[in-house]
Amino acid sequence: MKALILVGGFGTRLRPLTLTLPKPLVEFGNRPMILHQIEALAAAGVTDIVLAVNYRPEVMTAALKKFEKEYNINIEFSVETEPLGTAGPLKLAEKILGKDDAPFFVLNSDIICDFPFRELAEFHKGHGNEGTIVVTKVEEPSKYGVIVHKPDHPTRIDRFVEKPVEFVGNRINAGIYILNPSVLKRIELRPTSIEQETFPAIVKDGQLHSFDLEGFWMDVGQPKDFLSGTCLYLSSLTKKGSKLLTPTSEPYVHGGNVMIDPSAKIGKNCKIGPNVTIGANVVIGDGVRLQRCVILAGSKVKEHAWIKSTIVGWNSTVGRWARLENVSVLGDDVTIGDEIYCNGASVLPHKTIKQNVDGEYSMM
Ligand code: GDD
Ligand code: MG
Repeated sequence: MKALILVGGFGTRLRPLTLTLPKPLVEFGNRPMILHQIEALAAAGVTDIVLAVNYRPEVMTAALKKFEKEYNINIEFSVETEPLGTAGPLKLAEKILGKDDAPFFVLNSDIICDFPFRELAEFHKGHGNEGTIVVTKVEEPSKYGVIVHKPDHPTRIDRFVEKPVEFVGNRINAGIYILNPSVLKRIELRPTSIEQETFPAIVKDGQLHSFDLEGFWMDVGQPKDFLSGTCLYLSSLTKKGSKLLTPTSEPYVHGGNVMIDPSAKIGKNCKIGPNVTIGANVVIGDGVRLQRCVILAGSKVKEHAWIKSTIVGWNSTVGRWARLENVSVLGDDVTIGDEIYCNGASVLPHKTIKQNVDGEYSMM
């Protein structure tokens, strides 16, 4: 089977992290975001994966080529010279996606869930029409693509409205599709949007169905959602009894849902959790309190720091008695001084912060 992952876009909403790494390579649950998808595709029997890239392809190629052997798959990089949107990249990869009559999967690269690829393929085959999109329910549908069903049919889609300004429903496009190769005939090789152009055209012909997602889902393309998505992902691992989590029998683990890389060092009398990930080679000093936060690889949190609802970027240092909270995000190689308070601070890579930052989403 074949799949295409849309890995373009500049990931501006996940700055300052994406100033250092392309969004799909930022670690979510201690592994590059896109690896969760590649692994799930490979487990469902997909052998050919096209990565549709337009932004810093060389970084992506270097980071991902090595996984071909590990997962026994072919990864093809399809590089755009200008951003082709969310549909153009499918046309650009027509030779691979249309090489046989079998349907192919398409994925947005910034979504996280228990990927239901096998069930989705089965359902798609069952209705026999051109496309199926995975849908989930959310409370705030205006940031997403919303679908409305035909009144007389449980799965056939009647309307697809991208980022509606008025309420049309709360069942949204989860960013996972399975499409027949015939869809490629509907797309021109130019910057074009699958949500604005391709889906409405397929809907008009009554050829698009929905498939309900079970369990958690999140678009983790912005810091607030990245943190919420981390909580959902860790909770789902807890439910499954996953070995990826740090055992709750460790004296410093508080409330569960904690994932610590084996190479990380944890000091004495720390209280960590719930909902914390700690990356490779991180050093946590004595008496540190961490909750609902992500500490990326190579960072150092000094004694008695207190961190909540915060992403600490790679190789950063958080000072003694520092307090970070309220969706603060530190870029790569940031230094936060001793006793500094960061409230909703967004700090650019390589900066040193010596004064308190109290403000929503300040880019320092
Ligand atoms: N190759 C390529 N080229 N990829 C692109 C381009 C491009 O020009 N532009 C965007 N992408 C990729 C992004 O990297 C992401 O993986 C995906 O296309 C969707 O773009 P986002 O920028 O993340 O879109 P969104 O989150 O606002 O909305 C989309 O996702 C929602 C679910 O999270 C839409 O598909 C919505 O309908 C959907 O509900
Ligand atoms: Mg997105």
